[in-house]
Amino acid sequence: MGTPLDSSAAALRHIAVIMDGNGRWAKQRHLPRYEGHRRGLQVARAMVRACAERHIPYLTLFAFSSENWRRPAVEINALLTLFGEAATLLSEEMVNNGVRVVFIGERTRFPVKLQRTMTNMETVTAGGKTLNLTIAVSYSGRWDIVQAAAAIASNGGDFTEDNFNLHLATTDAPPVDLLIRTGNEQRISNFMLWQAAYAELYFSEKLWPDFEKTDFYSAIDDFSGRERRFGDVGKAC
Ligand code: IPE
Ligand code: IPE
Ligand code: MG
Repeated sequence: MGTPLDSSAAALRHIAVIMDGNGRWAKQRHLPRYEGHRRGLQVARAMVRACAERHIPYLTLFAFSSENWRRPAVEINALLTLFGEAATLLSEEMVNNGVRVVFIGERTRFPVKLQRTMTNMETVTAGGKTLNLTIAVSYSGRWDIVQAAAAIASNGGDFTEDNFNLHLATTDAPPVDLLIRTGNEQRISNFMLWQAAYAELYFSEKLWPDFEKTDFYSAIDDFSGRERRFGDVGKAC
């Protein structure tokens, strides 16, 4: 079994996206932040289609971080309402497009009704073969590592990299190859700390609601030009 760092240099199997900039997009237009999140959801739908078109099998979207619980209640409630609506309204579209949806994160923090809606979306899309879409909600990389360690400890398992891979929330996904962050910030914000250990990083100045398919394809093209060495010597050597 491969380690998380063990990935083919050319293959692009897993893209993870920190979808940032919704609030600023709304502010620029004198709209409530919630409108930025609504628009951001439509961009996320477009990126799911773009991944399927480019035959990229794994896409992970950061929709709500563990730290986002610090936001004002009005914004949190608006986001939770949007997640519930999206999970209900988009399930059929995901099934029709062969998208298997999985939510990762501390979902017990969400209202029970929303938890049920998420589980239902996972169940109805479970047969999807085109794209594995992971949506990270109430997620943080540190939370994931700690919950994996706790699970290993509770069943007396070995603290090996392979065993961590199995117990992380992303258990059946390959390591992240390309990590994209929009919104003109250059930080990881506690996302996929283990899984993106050797990811290529791509930062876009565009706010997420302005991010287009062509921007996504530019990130993929940029990735294609990178030399991934994984600690080895380069081709030129
Ligand atoms: C990202 O956009 C979406 C979430 C964190 C839920 P932001 O809401 O962080 O937008 P900015 O960074 O304030 O513009
Ligand atoms: C990261 O964006 C979380 C998501 C995109 C869901 P934030 O806007 O919360 O991150 P910081 O606060 O700028 O680091
Ligand atoms: Mg932000």
